[in-house]
Amino acid sequence: MFARRAASFATSLRRLPAAAVSPVSPSFGQVAAALASRRAVFPREASPRASSISTPKSENIVWSDSLLSTEERLAMTGCKGATLWLTGLSGSGKSTVSSVLEKKLIERGVLAYRLDGDNVRMGLNKDMGFSKADRVENIRRIAEVSKLFTDCGIVTLTSFISPYREDRDRAREIFEKDGLLFMEVHVDVPLDVAESRDPKGLYKKARSGALKNFTGIDDPYEAPLKPELVLKTHDFSVDECADQALEALRKCGVSIPENPV
Ligand SMILES: Nc1ncnc2c1ncn2[C@@H]1O[C@H](COP(=O)(O)OP(=O)(O)OP(=O)(O)O)[C@@H](O)[C@H]1O
Ligand SMILES: [Mg+2]
Repeated sequence: MFARRAASFATSLRRLPAAAVSPVSPSFGQVAAALASRRAVFPREASPRASSISTPKSENIVWSDSLLSTEERLAMTGCKGATLWLTGLSGSGKSTVSSVLEKKLIERGVLAYRLDGDNVRMGLNKDMGFSKADRVENIRRIAEVSKLFTDCGIVTLTSFISPYREDRDRAREIFEKDGLLFMEVHVDVPLDVAESRDPKGLYKKARSGALKNFTGIDDPYEAPLKPELVLKTHDFSVDECADQALEALRKCGVSIPENPV
């Protein structure tokens, strides 16, 4: 079974553009042999991930190590994962920019995936409401899932208002303690611009009193203090904003070809 998975991995590696594959990758034969015999190509000394996990509710659980560390995975696949955490007012353009950005990345042969506010609340987080405790748990789960995607080598684009600095800082912590790339992206527009766009009609509802605790109206938005990137969607087009994000990713070591492949 391992040999079959390894063979399909080899096929998918061949499909990746040359620019996305590290020239220092170990030979595929090495990897396949290691997987087949269930022993690591690289020496593994400890269980670094186990120590970084906050105290779980259940007892009698034991961390199971992968045969590959994040670095080893990167060396073999050439796919460097990252999470772009888009935060900003409703209507600032998080979903719009992340959709275009995802497409640009995929067109360039870079694995990318969006985790978007309402979509996640329809599935993974359908048990979450908008109380303070639920908002905190909503963000924690999203951060944990994006961390897994990032570890897997995917450029993950999260689009959540995530209005509280404390929650975003906690999300960052989840990545940084495992040495994974987290970039806070402030999708920054004045409230009057977001309100004039009002793509979901939520500002109208909030102003009429039909919607309570709406960020920017009767609930605060705490702007990031030191975001890795600021996208001013009232000054730049969607396309330009997506290009600015591509550039920021490149600066952080994600290899992205200039043109679609
Ligand atoms: N440069 C731009 N970048 C992004 N969106 C823009 C831009 N210019 C205009 N828009 C418009 O602004 C609106 C942004 O809506 P969008 O749903 O992306 O916001 P959001 O931040 O995801 O909001 P929510 O938090 O409610 O999901 C869209 O109607 C989009 O067409
Ligand atoms: Mg959105």
